[in-house]
Amino acid sequence: MKISPIFISLIATSLLIFSCRQEPAGLGYTASKSATGSTAMVVSPHPLASEVGRQILQKGGNAIDAAVAVQFAIAVVYPRAGNIGGGGLLVLRQAEGETVTLDYREKAPAAATRDMYLDSLDNIVPGLSTDGHLAVGVPGTVAGLIAAYDRYGGGLPFAELIQPAIDFAEKGFRVSITEAERLNTYQDAFRQYNTDDNPFVKDTPWQEGDLLRQPNLAKTLIRIRDEGRMGFYGGQTADYIVAEMKRGGGIITLDDLSDYQPTWRLPVTGTYKNYRIITMPPPSSGGIALVQLMKIMESYPLASMGFQTAASTHLMTEAERRVYADRAEHLGDMDFFPVPVDSLLKKQYLNSRMADFNPEAATPSAKILAGAIANTPEHFETTHTSVVDAQGNAVSVTTTLNGNFGSKVLVHGAGFFLNNEMDDFSAKPGVPNQFGLVGAEANAIAPGKRMLSSMTPTIVEKDGRLFLVLGAPGGSTIITAVFQVILNVTEFGMDLESAVNAGRFHHQWLPDQVMVEKGTLSPEVRQALEKMGHTFREVERMAVIKAIQRLPDGTLQGVGDRRNPDDDARGY
Ligand code: DON
Repeated sequence: MKISPIFISLIATSLLIFSCRQEPAGLGYTASKSATGSTAMVVSPHPLASEVGRQILQKGGNAIDAAVAVQFAIAVVYPRAGNIGGGGLLVLRQAEGETVTLDYREKAPAAATRDMYLDSLDNIVPGLSTDGHLAVGVPGTVAGLIAAYDRYGGGLPFAELIQPAIDFAEKGFRVSITEAERLNTYQDAFRQYNTDDNPFVKDTPWQEGDLLRQPNLAKTLIRIRDEGRMGFYGGQTADYIVAEMKRGGGIITLDDLSDYQPTWRLPVTGTYKNYRIITMPPPSSGGIALVQLMKIMESYPLASMGFQTAASTHLMTEAERRVYADRAEHLGDMDFFPVPVDSLLKKQYLNSRMADFNPEAATPSAKILAGAIANTPEHFETTHTSVVDAQGNAVSVTTTLNGNFGSKVLVHGAGFFLNNEMDDFSAKPGVPNQFGLVGAEANAIAPGKRMLSSMTPTIVEKDGRLFLVLGAPGGSTIITAVFQVILNVTEFGMDLESAVNAGRFHHQWLPDQVMVEKGTLSPEVRQALEKMGHTFREVERMAVIKAIQRLPDGTLQGVGDRRNPDDDARGY
C-alpha cells in the first residue's frame, strides 16, 4: 500500500497539535515547533536559546555569530546536553557556496591507553567509560566556538554573543517539564559523583517552572568572555578541571587542556540526483555513512516504491546494515587511522556492497559478536542547531556531552558537566558501546585521538542553491534519521514538518534488528518484512531532527521535532 504524503502530513499535524503545550504560568517561554521567515532562521533544542539566536541575527550577526551565541545559551538552559564540557562538529556553507567544517570533538587525554576500560582478564569494566571521571575526554566546545568566531564571525563583539548565557546562569531561568524530569532522574548520579556544591541537586523533586541559577557557571562564562580561550583552557577554570579530575581519579591534565586545538577540515560531499550533500568527515562516521546511503539509493526507484512500504523499508534497511558494517571496520579519527574515504564513497564500491541484496529476503548480519546487545538509552540528548542568516550563510552544528549530563561529573567550582565521550571509542574490538555500536582498530583508544561520532551535521544543496540544513541528537540513530528526513523531502514529497515528524526505523548492522518507533510501519508492512527475515525492536523515539528548508520562493521554513517538547524554531 502506498501512503500519500497528505495522509502523513495529517497524522504529523495532529500529533503536533496533540503535543503543543500551553505556556505554564511563570515559565516565560513556549516552544514554537515550526516557523517561517523571509530573512533568517534558527532551530535549536530550547526556546530561550533560539530566541538568543534570532536576536543576534536581527542585530546583524551572521550564522556563525548566532550559532556561537546559541551554543553558549544551551550550555546554560539545556544542561542535560548543552555544554562547554563536551565537544561538537560544525558544517558551514557560506552564501557564495564555499564550504568548510570545524571538528571540535573531544580528544583522549595523553594518559589514555588502549585497554583503560578493561580488567585483568581483558573484560570491559561496566560503567567505567560512561560514568565518572575516567569517562571524560578533553573538552573541545570552547576552543571550537572561539575558532569559528575568530575565522567566520560577522562582526558582533564576542562579549555580546556570550552575554545572554551569562545572564541566564546568573539570574536563573525556569526549567521546562522535560528538563525537570531529566534532573530528577539523575539525582542519585549527581550525588554519587559530585561534591555538595551542586545547583542541580535538590531535596524535593524539580518541577516545571522552578528557577535554576548557576552562579559558578556564570563565573566560568565571564572568564571565557574576558580571557577568551585561556578563560577555559588555562587559569582558574583549568585548575578547577584538573582538581576535579584528581578528586575523582580522572586523568586530564593542564597540558591536555592547553594542548587542545580544534581542526578545520574539508567536508565530505556527494551528489544525489540534482542534490549535493555537504557533511562532516571523520571523526564523524555520519557524513560518510550518509553519502554512502544516498548514493546507494540513487540506483533504485525509491519514489515509486513508496513511503514505508515493505519494498522501500527493506531496501533502506539493507543499505543501512551494510553501511554500519563499514562504519565498524573502517571509520575512526583520520589523524590516527587511514580511513579509506574515497574508496568508501565510490559508486562501484557501493554497487558491490549491494550485490548480494535480495529484494525478497533480509541478509543476516555477519555472526553477532559476543555481547552485541544494544542498550540504547530511551532519551537521546545531544544538541543540534541549524541556522541560516540574512546573507544566506548556513550553519549546521551538533554538540554533545554524549549521555544525559555526560559523565555526571560537575566541575567543582566551575559549574559545568563534563562529557562521557570516551565511551564512543571502541574499548574492546567487537564489544558494543552504550549505543550498541561495535568497532575495531580504526576506533581504538590512543592518546590525543578523537573518538568516532555519529553526529551528522549536514547541509543539502539543490541545483547549486541552499536547500536543507539539518542534524540531530540520537547516538547511532542520527545517521539514519538524517538520511530518512532527506528522502522524505526529496523522494516522498513531504513538506519539512511532515518529513521531520514522520516515524522512523533504523538498522545498524549489529545487533541484527530493525529498531522502529512505536506506531511506525503498518502491521501489514511489518508482517511482510518479518517474512523476509527482519526482526523488530520498538522504541519510544529515536533521533530528534532540527531542520531548515529554503523553499523555492526563498522563504525559510524552520522545524523542530515533535520528539523533543523543547525543540524550537524562530525566524523573521
Ligand atoms: O558523537 C556521538 O555519536 C555521540 N556521542 C552522540 C550522543 C548522542 O547523540 C546522545 N544521544 N543519546
